Amino acid sequence: MARLLRPLSGFAAALLLVAVAAGCAASREAPTIAPEVARGKAWYTTCAGCHGNAGEGFRGMNAPRLAGQSPDYLTRQLVHFRSGVRGGAADFYGVAMNGRAKALPDEQAVHDVVAYIATLPAPPLAPAGEGDATSGRALFESCAACHGARGEGNPTLQAPAIGGLDSWYVARQLANFRKGIRGREGDAEGEQMRAAAALLPDEAADRDVAAYVATLR
Ligand code: HEC
Ligand code: HEC
Repeated sequence: MARLLRPLSGFAAALLLVAVAAGCAASREAPTIAPEVARGKAWYTTCAGCHGNAGEGFRGMNAPRLAGQSPDYLTRQLVHFRSGVRGGAADFYGVAMNGRAKALPDEQAVHDVVAYIATLPAPPLAPAGEGDATSGRALFESCAACHGARGEGNPTLQAPAIGGLDSWYVARQLANFRKGIRGREGDAEGEQMRAAAALLPDEAADRDVAAYVATLR
């Protein structure tokens, strides 16, 4: 799905660019994607220092990959960081995002920056990480129902694409969901994931399943 989504969104943006260039009369009333992407690119300069110029993620800043992720999911996370449903003082790494997300002036800016991220190609596979991908593969069976057999995500279930996400980030999120640091009140999708993470016995299992997830595309 992530693979499909990328060329599609790029293609849709290209189509709109063509429509705008042709002076399409309707483009005055309806918001067009093209100027949003341009504004989003400008907003993204405030993100690149942590998430990388190509949205590839940067472990040194604990910031995950954003390129290749579904726009709906990214938008929801930014809205949650803005409202404080995600992050906060108990979330050692997530708290860095609250100020950054709030620095976007309004939801239009959220949509703009997400539209720009949607133009960035999915980065290459990351190293598998410290866990044991073979036992992780067995554990992943319980995840596939929502996230898909290749971790491609399922928009109907609001489950994001996780295939190819860095194992250090995935392991951290699983622990956060299980501890209730993520998936708090007001976060319906996160609460579902919290229940799923509770099925994993310990942080060693988090690392194993994360190592397997990192090998998926
Ligand atoms: C100071 C570093 C920093 C900056 C600047 C920053 N981020 Fe982040 N971002 C992070 C960290 C760290 C996380 C991981 C939080 C966690 O572990 O839960 C994150 C997480 C996210 C997530 C959640 C990803 C997911 O898979 O759930 C999104 C979306 C995001 N950032 C978007 C942005 C955008 C857009 C900007 C610019 C407006 C931005 N970030 C600027 C550090 C940063
Ligand atoms: C009942 C459906 C369901 C199951 C089963 C499930 N998930 Fe999720 N998962 C979700 C939803 C929905 C979200 C989005 C939460 C949000 O919006 O914050 C999510 C989010 C995540 C995230 C956060 C991604 C990010 O970029 O921050 C990770 C990692 C994850 N799931 C991994 C797993 C793993 C590993 C398993 C199996 C052990 C699993 N999930 C099982 C529904 C599920």
